[in-house]
Amino acid sequence: MLDINKIRSQFPSLSIKNNNGDKIIFLDGPGGTQVPKKVIDGISDYYKFSNANTHGEFITSIDTDNVMSSLRKKMSIFLGAEHENCISIGHNMTTLNFSLARGLSKLFKKGDEVIITDLDHEANRGPWMTLKEKGIKIIRVNLLNNGKLDYKDFKRKINDNTVMIAMGMSSNAIGTVNDFEYVKKLIKNKEILFLLDAVHYAPHFSIDVKKIGCDFLLCSSYKFYGPHLGFLYTKTDLLDKIDTDRLVVQEQNAPYKIETGTLNHAACKGVEKAIDFISSLGEGKNYREKIENAYEKISHHEKDLASKLYASLKSLDNISIIGPDFSNKRTPTVSFIHNSLTANEICKILADHNICAWDGHFYAKTAIENLELDKIGGITRLGISCYNSIEEINKTIESISRI
Ligand SMILES: Cc1ncc(COP(=O)(O)O)c(C=O)c1O
Repeated sequence: MLDINKIRSQFPSLSIKNNNGDKIIFLDGPGGTQVPKKVIDGISDYYKFSNANTHGEFITSIDTDNVMSSLRKKMSIFLGAEHENCISIGHNMTTLNFSLARGLSKLFKKGDEVIITDLDHEANRGPWMTLKEKGIKIIRVNLLNNGKLDYKDFKRKINDNTVMIAMGMSSNAIGTVNDFEYVKKLIKNKEILFLLDAVHYAPHFSIDVKKIGCDFLLCSSYKFYGPHLGFLYTKTDLLDKIDTDRLVVQEQNAPYKIETGTLNHAACKGVEKAIDFISSLGEGKNYREKIENAYEKISHHEKDLASKLYASLKSLDNISIIGPDFSNKRTPTVSFIHNSLTANEICKILADHNICAWDGHFYAKTAIENLELDKIGGITRLGISCYNSIEEINKTIESISRI
C-alpha cells in the first residue's frame, strides 16, 4: 500500500491554499503532474553546482556529462531497455516523433504503408501524416464507439506493404489501454517496425520494452512527476540505421544522433530525481525491482480512487462517462459529459471549487470527432495521480453531484 500522507508531504504544491484556506485538488495529471521536492531540488542544485555545457575538461562540465549519462542509465532501467545507448533525450515527445518520422521517411519507399490509429494523440499521428508527401500511405485503424480500437480492422489492415505501426499504449483522452501485445503478436516474424506512444501509460504502469519487443517507445517525464522533457527508446543498433537530421559537428551515432543542439541539463537532473522518487515508493533488491513494485502500488491506489469516481459519476442522471469501465486494464483517467453544460463550463465550476480539471479534445482530436463529441465542446477529464487522496475524490464527487 502507498503511504499517501508521506507521498503528499513530498509535493510542495499540494500545500497551496486559496483565499478561503482550501487546498487545491490536482486532477489535471494527464496534462502534467505535480513535482516532488527532490525533483525541484535536483534542478536547482544543478544550477548551483554543476551548470555548464557538456564535454569540457573542467569540473562543472564533467559534472554535467555525469548528469546526462546517469539519467540515460536510470531511464534505461525505468523502461527495461537493453542499455543506456537506447535512450535519446528531446524537448518533448512530439519533437522526437517528428524527427524520427523524418528520418524513417528516407528509409521507406513509395507505396509503403504506415498504420496509425484514430484513438491516438495527434503527436503520434501528425508526424506520420507528413510521410504522405513521399508517397507513403497512412492507414488509419478505426475507433469503436465503446472507446476501444477495432482490432479486426487492425488485423485487416496489416499486409505485405506495411512497414510500420505507430500506436498508443493508452488514450490520454478516455483512459483506454490498448492491446498492444495482441498487435505485436499480429506482426510476429514480419519486418514491420513497431512504435509505442507511452506518454499516458508511463505515469500509471511499469514498462518493459524488451518484454514488449517494440522497436521504438516514446514518453514524457512531465507526466510522471518530472520536468518537461521527452524520451525515445530505440532498439539496439536501429537508430544508427536511420538518417536523422544532423549538424556535421554533432555526434553521428546512437543515442545522440536524434538529439539536436544543447539539451536542458537541469531538467535532465530533475528527471533522474523523478525516477528516484518513483523507485522510492517500491521495495525490491535492485532499482528495477523497486520501480516495478512501486508501479504495482501506484496502479492499485489509482484504480481504487478512479473506479470509485467512475461508479459515482455513472450513477448521476445528468452525467455520461466516455471511455471503458474498469473491467479491463485502463488508466485512472475518467472523462465525462454533462447533459446541459459544456465541458468548459464544468471545468469553470470545478475551478471555483478549487479542483483542477481539463476540458476539450486533449489533442486526441480525431477520437473526439469520431465519438461525435467535438460538436458539444469535447469532454471533461479528471486524471488521478499517485498523490491524490480519497478525500479529494469524495470532494470532487460531491462538487459534481451538486452541479
Ligand atoms: C498520449 C500522448 N501522446 C503524446 C503527447 C505529446 O507529448 P509532448 O507534450 O511531450 O510532446 C501527449 C501529451 O499530452 C499525450 O498525452
